[in-house]
Amino acid sequence: MPYFSTTVQHIRSSEIRDLMKLATRPDIISFAGGMPNNDLFPVKEIDEIFLTLDPQKKKTAFQYGPTSGYPPLLDTLNEYLRTKGLPVDTHRLMITTGSLQAINILGMEFIDPGDVVLTENPSFIGGLAVFKAFQADIKGIPLMHDGLDLEELELAVEKYQPKLLYIIPNFHNPAGIIYSKEKRRKVLEILEGKDIVLLEDDAYNELYFNEVAQKLTRPVMAVNDKNIEVVYTGSFSKIMGPGFRLGWMLASPEIYEKAEIIKQGIDACSPNFTQVLANEFMQRGLLSRYLKRIREAYAERSLIMKESLEKYMPEEVQWNQPQGGFYYWLQLPEFMDSAEILKESVKNGAVFVTGKTFDPENKRNNYIRLSYSNMDINQIDMGVKIIAKAIEQNLHKQLKCS
Ligand SMILES: Cc1ncc(COP(=O)(O)O)c(C=O)c1O
Repeated sequence: MPYFSTTVQHIRSSEIRDLMKLATRPDIISFAGGMPNNDLFPVKEIDEIFLTLDPQKKKTAFQYGPTSGYPPLLDTLNEYLRTKGLPVDTHRLMITTGSLQAINILGMEFIDPGDVVLTENPSFIGGLAVFKAFQADIKGIPLMHDGLDLEELELAVEKYQPKLLYIIPNFHNPAGIIYSKEKRRKVLEILEGKDIVLLEDDAYNELYFNEVAQKLTRPVMAVNDKNIEVVYTGSFSKIMGPGFRLGWMLASPEIYEKAEIIKQGIDACSPNFTQVLANEFMQRGLLSRYLKRIREAYAERSLIMKESLEKYMPEEVQWNQPQGGFYYWLQLPEFMDSAEILKESVKNGAVFVTGKTFDPENKRNNYIRLSYSNMDINQIDMGVKIIAKAIEQNLHKQLKCS
């Protein structure tokens, strides 16, 4: 028996993960993956870029690059982030291997075992996994339809003296919500003078469905007039493709400096190959055209799911209408166990992710996440029908028992 580190000793495959393995049948309708649509990737544009790429840039693409990132892409991204009101002149930008790597680097930079990290409840499972790996004591703050529960945040800040607060203000994974302007400001107010780093994960920033939502997407870091230490992360995964494995992190020079040294030890640099392509994609003006296309496609899918939910779901089930992103977050009656619903739905050909997965304390289980992003659009209705039937049956069973 090898002697595992204390960090991994307690890691176990969960029941849900095992169930998900069963759910890979080719005929299954999957609302489980939080990934972009395979048929929407900019394959033609990237083909064209590579065919017409300057030979010198092609050679650069095959080579190692600076740890901070491919300099032309850093320039392009800095200009792009400036348009979002982000402080690119006072802060430093680093390209990372997906934005999950940025979260990992920050975990390494800030978390000692037992340190308290505040997250939303529910929260992105990748972020939670990072904080767990660094043995943080994670405290979840309830998430409402317009952002964090501020009273709970205030209490937790006083009670636990956390090191880090991790939030996803735009088109939340898994909750699908967007923070109101007021809540963005209030979060900053609560953190004022507290020496807590605010980690703002903005992976879905560009995926808004309407102008009202677009206006709300202004990052918290862009309205930070309280001198809070905000670190902002973003990603190419949802706007070009996760296969590029490119994200970024904008941080104060002090945080950046240590982050760069940490990254050197992890992978020296993010892939130059995809950085060169991403830079051309942006420089040739292809990104904005592409974004328009995918926003429309995801909005259409979201609408189809809305109609199906309204048609099939029992009235005991509640949800918010997403204004962007990939997810519906369904609240089932309190007594219901979404693992039971999942088992029944898998039998009938539909799969999703259960709520417990996104709960930092792994408890709350009367929620389910439905992702409409990556499946045949004609299957959404059928999939929702299968899940609704499983919920309905469960409801009847409970009523009979009581
Ligand atoms: C909220 C959130 N943050 C970060 C990521 C990680 O993305 P990346 O592919 O950039 O590592 C995801 C991916 O699903 C996500 O949903």
